Amino acid sequence: MANPWFETVAEAQRRAQKRLPSSVYGALVAGSERGLTIEDNIGAFSEIGFAPHVAGHKPSRDLSTSVMGLPLSFPVMISPTGVQAVHPDGEVAVSRAAANRGITMGLSSFASKPVEEVVAANPNTLFQMYWTGTRDAMIQRMDRARKAGARGLIATLDWSFSNGRDWGSPSIPEKLDLKTMVNFAPNVLPHPAWLLAYLRRRELPDLTAPNLQPPGGVAPTFFGAYYEWMQTPPPTWEDVAWLREEWGGPFMLKGVTRIDDALRAVDAGVTAISVSNHGGNNLDTTPATIRMLPSVAAAVGDQIEVVLDGGVRRGGDVAKAVALGARAVMIGRAYLWGLAANGQAGVENVLDILRGGLDSAVLGTGHASVHELGPDDLVIPEGFTRTLGAGSAAGDDGGAGGAAGSSAAASSAAAAPPAGAGSKAGPRTRTAKPLAKAEAEKK
Ligand SMILES: Cc1cc2nc3c(=O)[nH]c(=O)nc-3n(C[C@H](O)[C@H](O)[C@H](O)COP(=O)(O)O)c2cc1C
Repeated sequence: MANPWFETVAEAQRRAQKRLPSSVYGALVAGSERGLTIEDNIGAFSEIGFAPHVAGHKPSRDLSTSVMGLPLSFPVMISPTGVQAVHPDGEVAVSRAAANRGITMGLSSFASKPVEEVVAANPNTLFQMYWTGTRDAMIQRMDRARKAGARGLIATLDWSFSNGRDWGSPSIPEKLDLKTMVNFAPNVLPHPAWLLAYLRRRELPDLTAPNLQPPGGVAPTFFGAYYEWMQTPPPTWEDVAWLREEWGGPFMLKGVTRIDDALRAVDAGVTAISVSNHGGNNLDTTPATIRMLPSVAAAVGDQIEVVLDGGVRRGGDVAKAVALGARAVMIGRAYLWGLAANGQAGVENVLDILRGGLDSAVLGTGHASVHELGPDDLVIPEGFTRTLGAGSAAGDDGGAGGAAGSSAAASSAAAAPPAGAGSKAGPRTRTAKPLAKAEAEKK
């Protein structure tokens, strides 16, 4: 390819599709069942417009912030993804790119590279865990990540083992040896650049999860690890508090969609939550994360930090999420497309695209800092937002709604007032109250 640089994430995705064997590409697209949530995650950002100013723009703009005590040169973080075989440098390349662009790396416990190598590439790394295995095994994994220098823990709990996609699931072998490579040849041979990148290093993707390796044992295969996870009884809120306590440092609960869960997370003592639906990989028809963000952010107020992940493909999406109450966003597929398209440089390319788009949005809306973005900068259609789990405190926009667009019941107090109408209120104004306190008051 003459010029490896790409100008949008959409182009990175096109190149990733060309370069990767269809089974690897299919594993990144993922999604579940009808794929409505994954579609809504992306599509909902397009429903929100900007309300730009014509003059009075600021000549320089500060995009920096922090999440969980870690500095970010702009409000984007790498969301953990447990995927294998995208690129031989895998998460180490992603981590280097994140370090070079001044942002935090999130490393999945299902990832293909050991936490020690990833932290060496970027000291600002958060280690991600699922609720899987025995408590002793979880303690051992946390100890290892802590020793490696991970600065925080992400506990991802929004997974209910939904399976089956209407467009078909990719076939992925348990391990790759010469025999499986021969079987997979028709899938792999049309993508020689991908294969060559591995062969140049005299290796094949090994499809194991090194961060789940027990002391003195061997790393489980990806499928072995998944099986252990399926056999583990699901966690309670007490388990969440236990995990946070065992970790003893900055702690993010990832996968929150409901107000009641957000308030329970406050009670469990977390540092941050991510409003997330696992990139549309959990229960299909869960609404887009950007629809749920305003009510969750308003409910927890300043008690904990709120980030969002799901559907972010442009710098403008980052601006919209920040304007609606997120301190930062985490990205998943966007950097995976960059990694597949052009390794570390491809991830840097994606981060530069997001940074540039965010800066344009801050410039156009007349701000000097990313912290000044607010609902007044946006045009939000009526019925856009979704408030989940509000119980008796509900009534602001008609409850859960669906993934696909507005329901008749959804009016929208959490949506912004008309753009430019002067109110900066919108979603940030509800009183924050931990759930235990709210429940005690009800009695
Ligand atoms: C292929 C793939 C693998 C993922 N693996 C994990 C994982 O191991 N741990 C986790 O917390 N989230 C995982 N996620 C979810 C991402 O962290 C993130 O929530 C999601 O990708 C955000 O949506 P986006 O891809 O539209 O940015 C995965 C997502 C994808 C697409």
